[in-house]
Amino acid sequence: MKMALIETHELTKHFGDLVAVDNVSLRVEAGEVLALLGPNGAGKTTTIRMLASILQPTRGRALINGFDTVKEPIQVRRSVGFLTEHHGLYTRMRQMEYLEFFGRTHDLTAAVIEQRTTDLLDRFGLSEASDLRLGQFSKGMRQKLALVRALLHDPAVLLLDEPTSAMDPASAHLVRESIRNLRSSKRAIVVCTHNLYEAEDLADSIAIIRRGRIIAHDTPEMLKRQLLGEPIMELRLVDRLDGVLKYLPSELEPVEMGENWLRYRASNPDRVNPKVLNAMTQAGARVITLSEVERSLEDVYLQVVHGKGDPEGQP
Ligand SMILES: Nc1ncnc2c1ncn2[C@@H]1O[C@H](COP(=O)(O)OP(=O)(O)OP(=O)(O)O)[C@@H](O)[C@H]1O
Ligand SMILES: [Mg+2]
Repeated sequence: MKMALIETHELTKHFGDLVAVDNVSLRVEAGEVLALLGPNGAGKTTTIRMLASILQPTRGRALINGFDTVKEPIQVRRSVGFLTEHHGLYTRMRQMEYLEFFGRTHDLTAAVIEQRTTDLLDRFGLSEASDLRLGQFSKGMRQKLALVRALLHDPAVLLLDEPTSAMDPASAHLVRESIRNLRSSKRAIVVCTHNLYEAEDLADSIAIIRRGRIIAHDTPEMLKRQLLGEPIMELRLVDRLDGVLKYLPSELEPVEMGENWLRYRASNPDRVNPKVLNAMTQAGARVITLSEVERSLEDVYLQVVHGKGDPEGQP
């Protein structure tokens, strides 16, 4: 088994009577990106604040890079780069002063700070903002600077709370690309997001959290299979379907059909699809396409969070 850089055991947080995080047990290995999804108020931010050792759990524990978030907070903070939801920047500072300040708190040398900030500011298109005070930064610029700050000490664990929420599409694209590049065999990344495209694009595994509890956790592919059933294939012909139906393999489970198209479930596409194509050749039918029907993470999310089995249907 690979090393877990993030490990939680029954992590729980109460705010008075409210159970914001309820028995969360997670493992994120080196090289893995985990997306945390869930409705507003589900407990995502509270969870990662506990991982960053900013908030103490009521019960349970979390280990970051092997360090206990309660007993070894200094080592934990050294191991973590945290992009918070509300990154309070020091409005009168300029970005280099700000980054130098945080670089020094991580014991980085002036030369390392200089080199990393130059690279990172350039990567996120902030090099030209050096004369502005942080109070003059736009929302998206602030978010980028907060990301630069989170990356400055090259942490083993990155905790990113809605990293692209304020960004224009091109900047969001750039940040996603950077997150992909930051995935390495030595690093684990957690991304909280409401952007399901982003989650699917970046994450190796997805945990859906609702009312403080993890209600689904798997790879995007497995979540789709478990919640939406086996993959669905679509066969499209030039010709009408009714003339060739009798040639189709008997094990086929059609779910929908039209004049010249058919959709079927395939638990084993490697085996069934070649048979279907052979059958069409035998029938003399002209195939336009045989392809898998795309199913979105949105379908999974809506099913898990608002799906059947919940009498209230509330998030
Ligand atoms: N410091 C606090 N004191 C009291 N209650 C809090 C505190 N922080 C969070 N909560 C409550 O805990 C619950 C979980 O909040 P949290 O911020 O973790 O949700 P979230 O999943 O990040 O939501 P969002 O998607 O809106 O960011 C909410 O009901 C919130 O009101
Ligand atoms: Mg949040």
